[in-house]
Amino acid sequence: MSFELERARLETPGCANVLHLDNAGAALMPKSVLRATLNHLRLEAAIGGYRAAERALEAIEHSYDAAATLLGCHREEIALVEHATRAWDLAFYSIPFGPGDRILTDMAAYASSYIAFLQVATRVGAEIDVIPNDAYGQISVDALRDTVDERVKLIALTHVPTNGGLVNPAAAVGQVAREFGVLYLLDACQSVGQMAIQVDDIGCDLLSATGRKYLRGPRGTGFLYVRREVLDRLEPPVLDLCAARWVARDRYEMRPDARRFESWERNVAGVIGLGVAIDYALGWGLDAIYGRISSLAERLRVRLEALPGVTVHDLGRERCGIVSFAVEGWEPENLRRALAQEGINVSTSTRYSTLLDMDDRDLTALVRASVHYYNSEKEIERFCTVLETLNHGVGDSV
Ligand SMILES: Cc1ncc(COP(=O)(O)O)c(C=O)c1O
Repeated sequence: MSFELERARLETPGCANVLHLDNAGAALMPKSVLRATLNHLRLEAAIGGYRAAERALEAIEHSYDAAATLLGCHREEIALVEHATRAWDLAFYSIPFGPGDRILTDMAAYASSYIAFLQVATRVGAEIDVIPNDAYGQISVDALRDTVDERVKLIALTHVPTNGGLVNPAAAVGQVAREFGVLYLLDACQSVGQMAIQVDDIGCDLLSATGRKYLRGPRGTGFLYVRREVLDRLEPPVLDLCAARWVARDRYEMRPDARRFESWERNVAGVIGLGVAIDYALGWGLDAIYGRISSLAERLRVRLEALPGVTVHDLGRERCGIVSFAVEGWEPENLRRALAQEGINVSTSTRYSTLLDMDDRDLTALVRASVHYYNSEKEIERFCTVLETLNHGVGDSV
C-alpha cells in the first residue's frame, strides 16, 4: 500500500531542517498540532488563562474522546497527565501492595518503573520477579504462566522498550493475566502512536502513554488508561480538589472516573495539542503508520548490518521503529554528537535506562535511531552514508 510520504513531510515543518531519527525521544510535531497549541497560548495571553480554558472546553473534552478512540476504551477511563512516567506512577502507587505480594515484570523494564518496584519492595516487603526472555529475546509467556500464583498482585510489562526494536507480546501476556485474574499494567510509552493498540485486545487493566513520542504531540503531555472494573480497587496516591470533592469537614468524595488521577492545574494548550495529535494519527490510520514505520526500520537494519563495524542489537520476534546499534571504535554519545553536527538527530540508550537487559547482554550503551512514517528512504540512505563516512574518517574519540 502506498503511503503519502510527500504530504506527511509537507505537514511536518521540522523535516525541512533536520534528519530526525529520534522519534522515540520526541517526534516532530505536525503543523496542525503546532497551530492548535500556539493558538491556545495566544488565547490565554489575549483573554486570560481561565477564560481561554472556558472557551476551549470542547477542544479539551475532545482530547478524552480522542484518547478513548485511540485505545478503544471509554472516555471515563482516561486521565490526562504530564507524561508517561507520571501516568505509570499514578497507576502503580495506587495498588495496595503488602508483604509477600509478587510483582512480575520483564527484562526490558524501564528504569523509572524498576526503581518504583524497588521502592515498594523495600517499603512493604513485596517481591519483584523478572520473567526471563524466550529465544527471540521477548518475554517468555510460558515462563510467565508457570510462575503465576496467588501471591502475584501485578504483571507490569514494557510493550516496547526504550533501547530497541523489541515488541513484547502484550496480548499473550494479557491472556495470562486474565486467566489468573491478575492486575495488568502496560507501559505503552513507545508503542502508542506507533501501532494500533486496543486495550480489550491486549487485556490490560492499566496503560501509560506519552504525547511527545510516536504520537507527535507537544512535550509535557501523556495519559493513563484505567479499566472501569479496576478503578475502585485502586487508591490514587495523591488527591487534589479536582480528583476529589471536599464535601464535609471530615470527608471527601472521589470522582467516579479515571480523572481522580488528574490534578487541577495543567498545561491546557498541551492537552488540546495532544488531542489534535491523536486525531492526526487516527487520520493516517495506526495500521498504515505501523506498516510504514516497520518497513522503514527494517530497511535501516539491513543497511546498517551491511556496514563494516556496525552491529544491530534489536531483539524480538516482531521489531518496530526503534533501531539500536553499536559502531566499533565509537562511544555512542560521541557518535550522536558527530551525527548532530551533520544535522542528524539520534539518541543513545545507556544501561541506566534498562539495566536488566543491558547487563544481560553485556552492553553499556547503544545508539538509537528511531524512524517515523515521515522519514524518507532517501533519509535512510543519507544517514547510512554519513555513518559510513564518519566511520572511515579519523573517527573516534572513544
Ligand atoms: C519504555 C519507556 N517507558 C517509559 C518512558 C518514560 O516516558 P516519559 O519520559 O514520557 O515519562 C520512556 C521514555 O523514554 C520509555 O521509553
